[in-house]
Amino acid sequence: MQRSDHRPSTLIEGGAVFPHRHLTGIEGLQPHEISFLLDEAEHWVEANRTHAAPDKRMAGLTQINAFFENSTRTLLSFEIAGKRLGADVVNMHAAQSSVKKGETLIDTAQTLNAMRADVLVIRHMSSGAVQLIADKVACPVLNAGDGWHEHPTQALLDALTIRRRRGSVAGQRVVICGDVLHSRVARSNILALTALAADVRVCAPSTLMPPAIERMFVTPFTDFDQAIEGADVVMMLRVQNERMDGGYIPSSREYRMRYGLTAERLARVPNALVMHPGPMNRGVEIDSVVADGTQSAITEQVEMGVAVRMACMDVLTRRARGVEGWA
Ligand code: CP
Repeated sequence: MQRSDHRPSTLIEGGAVFPHRHLTGIEGLQPHEISFLLDEAEHWVEANRTHAAPDKRMAGLTQINAFFENSTRTLLSFEIAGKRLGADVVNMHAAQSSVKKGETLIDTAQTLNAMRADVLVIRHMSSGAVQLIADKVACPVLNAGDGWHEHPTQALLDALTIRRRRGSVAGQRVVICGDVLHSRVARSNILALTALAADVRVCAPSTLMPPAIERMFVTPFTDFDQAIEGADVVMMLRVQNERMDGGYIPSSREYRMRYGLTAERLARVPNALVMHPGPMNRGVEIDSVVADGTQSAITEQVEMGVAVRMACMDVLTRRARGVEGWA
């Protein structure tokens, strides 16, 4: 499909429009709204692969990526996504900003708002910080990861990867293994995948398992060998050393033995898709032979990230662009 063939539409199942001003989380999205964003992203996958004629539908809009925490994949893919759509993209790195002089989050938000940004992409180390900013500004805000809370575009790109590889998310047994407690990726994925009717298992040492996780309609395991049985997708999580103050796991070596995705373990599910949001701790939660092996979809996840972020920014800026269908 050529980019120029695409007819943007905020119309979704049942004739409603995509009703959300911001994308601060998967929580609050209806299953058909998640599917709508995935459908929109499909177009951009093809357009990106074929280098179709440029579609600069965000020309004249200013996108500010304000990152208060480090990132490679998310920052770069939002930047590439915005540029491919013709937006003027500006990156604000907290380390080089007035945040270092003690400026508050609210003052920073009001400063960005006064510059009349048309879309803000925010990553922050504190859960809830992105919502705080969204409540203060006049433009759409996209959450690029906030603390332990949510990373909605990661979950969307993961769901898109699964849907493309498996034909559907519904009915797929997805095992999410690792540091579930500290993981915004796990939280957003659980919300998205259960909404799309996947059979979701989570696996972690008891010290890294959130209490009452069953309430999120997942099945918890502490034994990875049991959890992986019959898996269609194995999604590994990064051991987040920077969020741990010690005592969660005895050692990296023992963690790998009990929770690492090794070739031996993966041999139990030879048709399963291997996923990891990155960055990876090779030799801890995942071995290189697995990460780089034939079952891995890790680089495809990165590719889907650009398409998903193009879709989300396109949809959320339609109101500003006067495109049909906004409520
Ligand atoms: N998956 C992810 O969020 O990676 P980055 O921290 O590199 O953006």
